[in-house]
Amino acid sequence: GKDGYRHYMLKEIYEQPQVIGDTLNAYINPETGTFSLPDFPFDLAGASKLTIVACGTAYYAGFVAKYWFETLARIPVEVDIASEFRYREAPLPPGGIALFISQSGETLDTLEALRYCKRQGQKILSIVNAPESTIARESDAVLYTMAGPEIGVASTKAFTTQLTTLACLAVTVGRARGAIDQERMQQIAHALREVPARAADVLAHDERLKELAQEVSEARDVLYLGRGAMYPLALEGALKLKEISYIHAEGYAAGELKHGPIALIDDNVPVIVLVPSDALFEKVVSNVQEVCARSGKVLLLADKKGIDKLKDKVRWSVELPACDPLVAPLLYAIPVQLLAYHTAVLKGTDVDQPRNLAKSVTVE
Ligand code: M6R
Repeated sequence: GKDGYRHYMLKEIYEQPQVIGDTLNAYINPETGTFSLPDFPFDLAGASKLTIVACGTAYYAGFVAKYWFETLARIPVEVDIASEFRYREAPLPPGGIALFISQSGETLDTLEALRYCKRQGQKILSIVNAPESTIARESDAVLYTMAGPEIGVASTKAFTTQLTTLACLAVTVGRARGAIDQERMQQIAHALREVPARAADVLAHDERLKELAQEVSEARDVLYLGRGAMYPLALEGALKLKEISYIHAEGYAAGELKHGPIALIDDNVPVIVLVPSDALFEKVVSNVQEVCARSGKVLLLADKKGIDKLKDKVRWSVELPACDPLVAPLLYAIPVQLLAYHTAVLKGTDVDQPRNLAKSVTVE
């Protein structure tokens, strides 16, 4: 049942500290604090290329992982949506590995993309939430997310547990390839193990996000901006808002703004900017200034450093915990989920069963 929550989606958002913790316990040895992934029947660390394929929110998890695999493991990564990838006849190299991400394990386009990769001689790894699903069965190796059943059509806890699993995988591969040292690996293990507690801190901003949802609910269009791994998070934020509140939203890479989308900015458009303190911080700060100079209404999601720097310029802000940039996508996912959720409730939509959507897309 919904355990007293008004919707499954809200319950599932609130389960995240727990299920992220459960997923970490599966892939980090709690005693030694070291990563402990199962042995694969192929050499992932020696892969010539990693092809990541998925749909919707699972695709955005894969898109975040592209940044992680490239920077931490120095593996060339291609990431694509399954409905395009499967028909593209992409040439795939010998020694390549294909990674499929799916909550349900039954998404037809993802499954057909898997079968294509298999025919092309790729080894198949999948990250799946539903045990005994078709995608799990047809893979050479499977990593399970420990999200438990996800009922709400909008994916929330499946996404953050996919990210958790992908982070553990990228770090393990990065270490095996010698691309990161022992110390960095331990730092990341520590940062990941802090995530459940920090995620609970983020949930404490629920009331504030509910107030801000009032502003979002009055908008016709909403933009989400981020750079680096926050770019896929911006896409995910926009998808979440569209699918449950039916408000038009777009995510953009903040640096792409000046190549067109900035023309959309006026004082009617809320612009939600995800800006943790990371290597691209200053770049995003200038993008925020560009938006503010055009009277864009910025809602800043940042830690103390970002808030201090921009609070006089932006309309609204929510302060998130400072964290290792690597785990920021896990924490920044939560406010975008809550914002979409409360906006949808204000709009009076059917949050758990939004119109035209199915939980598992088994048609082409
Ligand atoms: O079951 P899957 O993870 O394969 O589903 C993929 C997408 O259909 C799914 O993530 C969809 O985009 C969600 N409704 C987004 O919230």
